[in-house]
Amino acid sequence: MLLAPMEDVSDPPFRALCKDQGADVVYTEFISSEGLIRDAAKSMMKLDIYQKERPVGIQIFGAVLESMLQTVEIVERSKPDIIDINFGCPVKKVVSKGAGAGILKDIDLMVSLTAAMVKHTNLPITVKTRLGWDQDSIRIVEVAERLQDVGAKAISIHGRTRSQMYKGEADWAPIADVKNNSRMHIPVFGNGDVNTPEKAMEMRDKYGLDGAMIGRASIGYPWFFREVKHYFKTGEHMAPPTLEERIEAARKHLQMAIDWKGEKLGVFETRRHYTNYFKGIPHFKEYRSKLVTSDHSVDVFAVLDEIEKEFSGYEFI
Ligand SMILES: Cc1cc2nc3c(=O)[nH]c(=O)nc-3n(C[C@H](O)[C@H](O)[C@H](O)COP(=O)(O)O)c2cc1C
Repeated sequence: MLLAPMEDVSDPPFRALCKDQGADVVYTEFISSEGLIRDAAKSMMKLDIYQKERPVGIQIFGAVLESMLQTVEIVERSKPDIIDINFGCPVKKVVSKGAGAGILKDIDLMVSLTAAMVKHTNLPITVKTRLGWDQDSIRIVEVAERLQDVGAKAISIHGRTRSQMYKGEADWAPIADVKNNSRMHIPVFGNGDVNTPEKAMEMRDKYGLDGAMIGRASIGYPWFFREVKHYFKTGEHMAPPTLEERIEAARKHLQMAIDWKGEKLGVFETRRHYTNYFKGIPHFKEYRSKLVTSDHSVDVFAVLDEIEKEFSGYEFI
């Protein structure tokens, strides 16, 4: 199981938590090749990786060959296990520059960029993409085969087109077509709407894919990975994490964020995760508000202690 690259979500602390809970491979947030070359501090920070989260893939996007090659050289210095190319991001500001899913309008460029990047590094290059630009231009079987033939080591496919953005349901059948192509030998990972252990199993057993890439189901819920693994092993659903486990995750998250970004940013950026960690606890408002308004980590840790005492034994469903 792979943790999907997610902007503002898949940062080092969150990736480490997912790894703790069973994610096999994790990916960074996407990083702009132009931003990285300009040395934008935010982009550079996205290159930080912890040893314990390996194997980790750094994901980059761009559409200009020279910049992408230069980016590969910069990224190599962080010694990731994988470099992933984002050919799937649907947002306008990325697509309008021909990057992300924008490149689905120019498959030859997509293939030649991948080929050049493969030649430029000894690290494995993987690709993440969508089914196509729109419903009328789905040629993912042929596209995946061409990417494989120029040296991509794996491909993750989100079962939507760019036109769909995030609407409707992800369609896994075309991803299975990619896998069933007898010429295909690299791993094919399915992505889109895997939010229950049953769906992860369906992706493997019904669609025959090599693994599932998990995005939204893990946001605020890194335990999703262990729940899927437990289900695969036993056929049964695992009990949700206890209050103590959630508190421990929140403490760990905050501590890692502070170690990584410093006290101020660490406290600030961890705030958005608490609501999810403690979702379901009744009469939690007062605590939530303290968690997200305390400016110092000592105060946040104290609130977490309070929550632990106050709600000890609470049974999550
Ligand atoms: C908040 C958010 C940020 C995302 N950022 C990225 C990104 O940086 N790179 C990328 O390839 N996909 C990104 N995606 C897309 C996800 O990786 C994934 O393809 C999509 O959410 C579908 O999978 P899911 O249904 O499991 O969430 C993002 C999705 C979300 C919800």
